[in-house]
Amino acid sequence: MQSEKTNREKSEGFTRNKGTSITFLLKSGKVIFSLKKKIKYMSDRLFIFDTTLRDGEQVPGCQLNTVEKIEVAKALEELGVDVIEAGFPVSSPGDFNSVVEISKAVTWPTICALTRAVENDIKVAAEALQYAKHKRIHTGIGTSDYHIKYKFNSTREEIIERAIGCVSYAKKFVEDVQFYAEDAGRTDNEYLARVVEAVIKAGATVINIPDTTGYCLPSEFGAKIKYLMENVKGIEKVTIATHCHNDLGMATANTISGVMNGARQAEVTINGIGERAGNTSLEEVAMICRSHKELDIVTNINTTKLYGISRLVSSLMNMPVQPNKAIVGRNAFAHSSGIHQDGVLKNRESYEIIDPKDVGVDENSIVLTARSGRAALKHRLHVLGIDLDKDALDKAYEGFLRLADKKKEINDDDVLMLAGKHHSATRRINLDFLQVTSGVGIHSVASVGLDIAGEKFEACASGNGPVDAAISAIKQIIRRTMTVKEFLIQAINKGSNDIGKVHMTVEHDGNCYYGFSANTDIVAASAEAFIDAINKFVH
Ligand code: KIV
Ligand code: ZN
Repeated sequence: MQSEKTNREKSEGFTRNKGTSITFLLKSGKVIFSLKKKIKYMSDRLFIFDTTLRDGEQVPGCQLNTVEKIEVAKALEELGVDVIEAGFPVSSPGDFNSVVEISKAVTWPTICALTRAVENDIKVAAEALQYAKHKRIHTGIGTSDYHIKYKFNSTREEIIERAIGCVSYAKKFVEDVQFYAEDAGRTDNEYLARVVEAVIKAGATVINIPDTTGYCLPSEFGAKIKYLMENVKGIEKVTIATHCHNDLGMATANTISGVMNGARQAEVTINGIGERAGNTSLEEVAMICRSHKELDIVTNINTTKLYGISRLVSSLMNMPVQPNKAIVGRNAFAHSSGIHQDGVLKNRESYEIIDPKDVGVDENSIVLTARSGRAALKHRLHVLGIDLDKDALDKAYEGFLRLADKKKEINDDDVLMLAGKHHSATRRINLDFLQVTSGVGIHSVASVGLDIAGEKFEACASGNGPVDAAISAIKQIIRRTMTVKEFLIQAINKGSNDIGKVHMTVEHDGNCYYGFSANTDIVAASAEAFIDAINKFVH
């Protein structure tokens, strides 16, 4: 269950030396508290490395601007994560700038920047991290035979040399260097151990063992970590990290299996977002550690903030949380069957292993109605991790009253959407009005009014349905070649008075642009999503 070795004698903020002494360290390495006393028992600390803003943000349609990323980073800091992977600075000027700004905005967590095993990547990452109070470069290379042969057309020996080279180069800029062995999940254990030993010698402080393709079985992944713990010289000097993808739905199970075999850093994302089927979800790992005391593992996560940050990320990234998602899904604590309801009423623990309040779900305050005041809206936003200034709150409240007129109950998703509405004020093109005829046996006709940087334009068009007609009318005004590539309408809750969310991808000039909107009128939401995408290329 728990490795005999202490992973890292000196880990930031916490260190443990079972049976002899316990010492608390500041990130500077300064001792602030030391207890030289025999202790029998002490839980191990699992470091939480959040990659929502890097691996999570790689998901098409989930891109955030720098202001939004700072908002998420600050919420992650409040949540208590140890490390924030803020981006891949060499990949774009936007990513570089986000790492710079997050470094300035965040105080306690270590800020990490990703690189390939390429000197220029590392130099650029170091530059982006210049303002971070605690900085880490995350560099690495693929180690499976698939990567070595097909991606690099190289040999195992050459890859070890490159691995040593990138860690040594990163050490010239920062003390804290994390190495990733990409596709470690499918890398032969003996060779992986040689790579890990070599990069520890070169100065790596954290070794990341990613199951990049989400292929491993939990027993197999746990055995891999155990093999490294037992066969790599110098392993006690570093922290072993897990980074599991969810392609076969085993990311969390693999992470926990890795932890049970000695890993002491878990790489995770909020809501488990990430490439393809996603990454291990932060909320699941945090609640497993909290619920299963026999694991002897503690994290620094303030679990009462989990629900708020889940909603914040979902709303900013326009990425709905599946209703049955563990811990933060809408139905995670809803008991609908009569037998369950009866059991829960008699004793909550009959069917609930987690008190909803422990993850920040306050059942009594979820629903707002038209009679709720501005203070109630402000409080609800605060619980969800959003504090608006007076003007933004006034605007959100106006929207709230309009929406509450159409919809009986306003829930958290609605509230977050209202809070996000103020972003539209900065857009160049806005929908002024929309009128559409639709029905059976008639041809739909739409008339549309657009406000483009203060100037008004109108057009009328017909189509094979109301959305087609509205989009044709907008195209008549904008006059660019644009094709709707993807179009998805989703209801947030149940009921015919619900809000419809529209995700749309529009192709223009060989590039795809993502648009989003939400409205109780799905034709209006579709037109707004189309305009949202256009705003990304018409400046
Ligand atoms: O999945 C993966 O292997 C990664 C690495 C870049 C750490 O995201
Ligand atoms: Zn990944």
